[in-house]
Amino acid sequence: MSFDTRAFRHALGCFPTGVVVVTAGAGKAPMGITVNSFASVSLDPPLVLWCMDRKSSRYRTFTTAKNFTISVLGSDHQPVSVRLAKPGEHKLDDLALVQTEAGPPGLADALALLECAHETVHDAGDHAIIVGRVLRFAWHKTGAPLVFFRGRYSALADAG
Ligand SMILES: Cc1cc2nc3c(=O)[nH]c(=O)nc-3n(C[C@H](O)[C@H](O)[C@H](O)COP(=O)(O)O)c2cc1C
Repeated sequence: MSFDTRAFRHALGCFPTGVVVVTAGAGKAPMGITVNSFASVSLDPPLVLWCMDRKSSRYRTFTTAKNFTISVLGSDHQPVSVRLAKPGEHKLDDLALVQTEAGPPGLADALALLECAHETVHDAGDHAIIVGRVLRFAWHKTGAPLVFFRGRYSALADAG
């Protein structure tokens, strides 16, 4: 029986997710990528994960980065999300950023920021699962999230 990968993508798209930007690198050349495979893993120790496409030109940078920062996007961040999802478009020039102790900057006004240390990387088919240990975090008590559903950006009806 053949497996319809296109239909599989559509089926997975029925699961609504938030959107994050993962940043790595510090100083003059930090880079970012738009990601919706982010998930919490463990409270103690504090671990999170996201999955990286092996075909990405950013694969090596992100799978080997000692530290990375996760910025949880708000509904106003859609243009940033679109930009950092473009092939080869990974520079953070002209974006509003906040510095972090670990190095990779976060996005200003993100709903939450998680500063992570590389914990492990696991092979998983055409992706790698990157697990990070959360070193520090910050969050806003209000603000609507950016949502991704059925291949489109969306919003939560009752978020405040
Ligand atoms: C909403 C959204 C979510 C995405 N989530 C992921 C993800 O979880 N993992 C991933 O590797 N790429 C994800 N991508 C794709 C990357 O953002 C980016 O488009 C791709 O890496 C571009 O190719 P490049 O890295 O070779 O430049 C997502 C794109 C969008 C628009």
